[in-house]
Amino acid sequence: MDTIFNTAQLRKIVAQWRRNGERIAFVPTMGNLHDGHISLLKHARGMADRTVVSIFVNPIQFGKGEDYATYPSTLEADQDKLTRIGLDVLFAPNLKELYPGGMEEDTRVTVPSLSNILCGEYRPGHFTGVATVVTKLFFSVQPDYALFGEKDLQQLMVIRRMVDDLCIPIEIVGKPIIREADGLAMSSRNSYLNDDERTIAPIIHQTLKRASTAANVPNADFREIEASCFARLKESGFKPEYFSIRRSSDLMEATLGDRELSILTAAWLGNARLIDNIQVNVDE
Ligand code: PAJ
Repeated sequence: MDTIFNTAQLRKIVAQWRRNGERIAFVPTMGNLHDGHISLLKHARGMADRTVVSIFVNPIQFGKGEDYATYPSTLEADQDKLTRIGLDVLFAPNLKELYPGGMEEDTRVTVPSLSNILCGEYRPGHFTGVATVVTKLFFSVQPDYALFGEKDLQQLMVIRRMVDDLCIPIEIVGKPIIREADGLAMSSRNSYLNDDERTIAPIIHQTLKRASTAANVPNADFREIEASCFARLKESGFKPEYFSIRRSSDLMEATLGDRELSILTAAWLGNARLIDNIQVNVDE
């Protein structure tokens, strides 16, 4: 596997692949790779002739006081893992490479309909930061497919909408959440949990499962389920931001009669902001 730091060099390699008629799959990450990332990468390798992974911790998607400065950086360990999977290229650009015009007055990409709800309400500017950097990465790699985890469901939907709206010829592929044995969704931020918090953390997934069962009965009261699950997280030691039952199609608030639901939550536990979600197909 080659590690490429420079966009021009990456484009040369990709151009050669294209001349050979090879299909390219791309997985953008912020590094500190865990089995959730690895699973995406294995899917990517299975669906195309060439696979590119990027590692770039994108400053503009972090708010003031968030963990940009302390976000775990483990490039060497990541390179070892990637070599074992057998990918073609690791693209690891520096700041100047992706933000040649600086980060203050430069161009932004915004998906208004999805960016100010749920996580966007608590992290203003976050999804604009994500959409902007993913656009830059897409133009650098020019893949046929780009893979994203359903762990960050709202992010996946933002990217799908962005690609549709901007007519970007890349197929967006979503893949299921990879969990620890006790149900905790894998995340780089789980390393912020101390031992006590780590034992409490799986309650998020348990609460989502409970909500999913409660939502799948005739005449379920979605608002009541949201309130009781929010309260359960609070009683368990979390500081929840939201616990919400949404329509899967557009992440708007679900009402009775909606059949495809996504239940999403974000909650702080100590220094870790944890997010998770579950999909529900309401029985006829
Ligand atoms: P990062 O948090 O590193 O995640 C990279 C990809 O891995 C995302 O698509 C994310 O949804 C997926 N992922 C993370 N944990 C997962 C899990 N437990 N199961 C399945 N997939 C999982 O998301 C980002 O980076 C950034 O916002 C990025 C898209 C790279 C833009 O900067």
